[in-house]
Amino acid sequence: MSALDGKVAVITGASRGIGRAVAVKLGEAGAHVVRLARTLGTGGGPGPVEIEHALDIACDITDAADLLRAAERVRESAGTPDILVSNAGGFLLKPFLQTSADDFRAQIEVNLVGAFGVLKTFLPMMSDRGGHVVTIGSVADHVPFPGNAAYSASKFGLRGLHEVLRAEYAGSGLRMTLISPGPTDTALWDPIGPDRRDDLPNRSAMLTPEDVADAVLYAVTRSSRAVVDLIRLSAG
Ligand SMILES: NC(=O)c1ccc[n+]([C@@H]2O[C@H](COP(=O)([O-])OP(=O)(O)OC[C@H]3O[C@@H](n4cnc5c(N)ncnc54)[C@H](OP(=O)(O)O)[C@@H]3O)[C@@H](O)[C@H]2O)c1
Repeated sequence: MSALDGKVAVITGASRGIGRAVAVKLGEAGAHVVRLARTLGTGGGPGPVEIEHALDIACDITDAADLLRAAERVRESAGTPDILVSNAGGFLLKPFLQTSADDFRAQIEVNLVGAFGVLKTFLPMMSDRGGHVVTIGSVADHVPFPGNAAYSASKFGLRGLHEVLRAEYAGSGLRMTLISPGPTDTALWDPIGPDRRDDLPNRSAMLTPEDVADAVLYAVTRSSRAVVDLIRLSAG
């Protein structure tokens, strides 16, 4: 018997990087995994990962109709989610004066409004019988880094959203965890090229997606008495 046997886990942004590693980890622990991303389930995206019980659904989290369609498919094909990992997001590294209003809006749109939409869509299904919501924040949700104005604003906002929901749902059986990783070696860094820059850690010194997935697994496998509110993860 595995820790998550019989549980349904929905993971957004699971086509690559941290979300994909979380899907694999929760799948290995026995969960029926549902992966959401724009390039999944369309035939044109990355191939399936080796997860025994997995369902891939194409979904843009900034599109409310897409989210509703995805929730309906989850309900029909897998049932009510026990675990929701809100992970999908983007990244921007630009000095403030070079950050356009469109740049700023785009970060808020996916990292904050998108995450809000995910919660609005799935919480009503989950709140009746309880479950676990894990939000992937960032070290930039509590530490200011130069060049991070738009991204950090979105992630500070996401931390605020998490804190309020944690207060609203305290004692309800719906548990909320915020996991805030430091730099993690994923494709998110490809356009930035940290190994060519002195002001950023080398990719080999970063966390791996599996490190973050381990933290998610830890949070969702505690006893029902223990709530893990917050995990701040950095490479040692
Ligand atoms: N890498 C880091 O250093 C780091 C550190 C701290 C926190 N984080 C956070 O961790 C999360 C995952 O980042 P990552 O490093 O794994 O990045 P990544 O490799 O670029 O993956 C991002 C994922 O989000 C999905 N996504 C993006 N926009 C979406 C949208 N509108 N609708 C649905 N899915 C969308 C992408 O899938 P599609 O393109 O297929 O839609 C992809 O699966 C993000 O929230 C990021 O802020 C990352």
